[in-house]
Amino acid sequence: MKAAVYDNPGPPAVLKYADVPDPACGPDDVLISVEAISIEGGDLINRRLTPQQPSWIVGYAAAGTIVAIGANVRDRAVGEKVAAFDMQGSHAELWAVPAVRTWLVPEGLELPQAASLTISFATAYHCVVTKGGLGADETVLIQAAAGGVGLAAVQLARERGATIIAVASGSQRQPRLIELGASHVIDRLKQDVVSEVLRLTDGKGADLVVDPVGSTLQASLAALAAEGRLVFVGNAGGGDLAVDLWQPMQNNQTLHGVFMGPLFGQPAVKKTVDELLDAAAAKRLEVVIDRVFPLRDAAKAHEYAETAKPLGRVVMIP
Ligand SMILES: NC(=O)c1ccc[n+]([C@@H]2O[C@H](COP(=O)([O-])OP(=O)(O)OC[C@H]3O[C@@H](n4cnc5c(N)ncnc54)[C@H](OP(=O)(O)O)[C@@H]3O)[C@@H](O)[C@H]2O)c1
Repeated sequence: MKAAVYDNPGPPAVLKYADVPDPACGPDDVLISVEAISIEGGDLINRRLTPQQPSWIVGYAAAGTIVAIGANVRDRAVGEKVAAFDMQGSHAELWAVPAVRTWLVPEGLELPQAASLTISFATAYHCVVTKGGLGADETVLIQAAAGGVGLAAVQLARERGATIIAVASGSQRQPRLIELGASHVIDRLKQDVVSEVLRLTDGKGADLVVDPVGSTLQASLAALAAEGRLVFVGNAGGGDLAVDLWQPMQNNQTLHGVFMGPLFGQPAVKKTVDELLDAAAAKRLEVVIDRVFPLRDAAKAHEYAETAKPLGRVVMIP
């Protein structure tokens, strides 16, 4: 099969479109003929930083049609359309994934949207609802709101009726963020995020902060209300993650870490993903796709996702 592989981590140009052996379908796996690949924020970080064995196939998320099932698999069948999550391997024509990490794609949802929903919306749900416990009378600050997790968090916060302060660089994506539910959008390149949040909340701060950036953690804490909750979920900003924990202790604030990898097999999380897929099929949620590339242009697609400030997901088609 063809796949986008790298030998050593680095810039997008390390990705090569190459012939590699087809993956084996293990007893608990399904083999998927991939039709849409979502480039996740974590894929960019892995390709940039994570050493692997030669011809490594990066990628967490894709959707397609099942072409084979393992001997132990009872709840999946050849021909079904599924969205899938795994720790690597999505940037390819074929993908062998544990059946437990697949979801049936509901009628009415396109495969690029299904591929792009699972990780970002499940993660955002865990941040906003499961850990965040966001209420209708509360204000949430969403860092990196124009990214995949951020856009999902904006929409899930809108569903809960909260006031949403979104952060994105530049002004070009602000109208769409407002359309998707943001009450205010802060341009992090021109405005000071902390003082803007304090101004918008009459000095109180946000009740909940969702932070997928990491390098913004200290600012997120400074923008958090007393007794507020900060959910830390990613390191898109790279660099130092050190924060001063004196302030959260003095202000009775709560820090939650979210790492979805081990949670995706849990029944409650699996059910949430099914519900989110249904909500997207019913157009109650929008999975925003910025641009589509052929898989053979994976290096260009990663370059675009990394530098062009997309709104939502960049997708590749094998
Ligand atoms: N823990 C988990 O289970 C989990 C699950 C999913 C994702 N993640 C992590 O969450 C992060 C975001 O994922 P994603 O898929 O949403 O990524 P994405 O779609 O690539 O978006 C990344 C966003 O990060 C923002 N950003 C980058 N550098 C920044 C900086 N220095 N300051 C402020 N914002 C910055 C960008 O905002 P601008 O557009 O404003 O520049 C961009 O919108 C990644 O680190 C990913 O690994 C973790």
